[in-house]
Amino acid sequence: KHTSSTHAYPVIGIIGGSGLYDISGLTDQKWVKVETPWGDPSDELLTGNLEGVSCVFLPRHGRGHVISPTEVNYKANIAAMKTLGVTDIISVSAVGSLKEELPPGTFVVVDQVIDRTRLRDKSFFGTGCVAHVSLADPFCNRIGQILYDNAKELGLSVVKGGTYLVMEGPQFSTRAESNLYRSWGASVIGMTNMPEAALAREAEICYATVAMVTDYDCWHEDHDAVSVEAVIKTLTANASNARALVEKIIPNLGKQRPSCAAGCDHALEHALITAPQK
Ligand code: ADE
Repeated sequence: KHTSSTHAYPVIGIIGGSGLYDISGLTDQKWVKVETPWGDPSDELLTGNLEGVSCVFLPRHGRGHVISPTEVNYKANIAAMKTLGVTDIISVSAVGSLKEELPPGTFVVVDQVIDRTRLRDKSFFGTGCVAHVSLADPFCNRIGQILYDNAKELGLSVVKGGTYLVMEGPQFSTRAESNLYRSWGASVIGMTNMPEAALAREAEICYATVAMVTDYDCWHEDHDAVSVEAVIKTLTANASNARALVEKIIPNLGKQRPSCAAGCDHALEHALITAPQK
């Protein structure tokens, strides 16, 4: 049951994608092992403080990038964050661009998602306890706005709004698929934000993504088809920007805040459909 309308002490979770395997500047740093009923998260979680704000960092693919997008245990990752008290998650994700006006190096605060994944466990609910949360707006606009404002203040090339197409991977798209996704109006393409965003909603954690464009995917005729080499090159050039953004936003998000206007923090209030147990 939803009990309080304020989180006096927000705890900020950061899920780092390709190129972001730790964060600097934390005091009281400690990597902690968390076990969950859904198995092990991608790695230990790095806990610490930034300007007095508690935060928890998790490298989505594990340190050393050893877990593929399909193999990531998204349920364990979100459950581990919930166990450590995380109230707000910022997801940092490398993506390809599906639009001419979003060149490599652009940061996109996405607000919609199209889920084309097929091989993932997508819900905490099922046999015994059924719930249907709303995903009409899958990202938290409150955090999204702060992400955008902070990125602007840092002078980054940042765009507010966009649709993230999540593909299964691990192969990149075919040219026909890339053009299909463009015809659907998708802005960027990646392999990880679903079911992560959906599970965060089920866990009543606010979740927002800043997507870092690393390449033009394969539809763009004037650019080579995407390769890991190209992705890493742009990632390396942008890693310091991503780190600066994370370090700037944590203290800002850590201030006391009202109940989430988007309803992320009480998503289960009208979602449970299973009859209460007698
Ligand atoms: N991650 C980074 N670039 C990508 C692309 N072009 N397709 C899917 N995932 C990506």
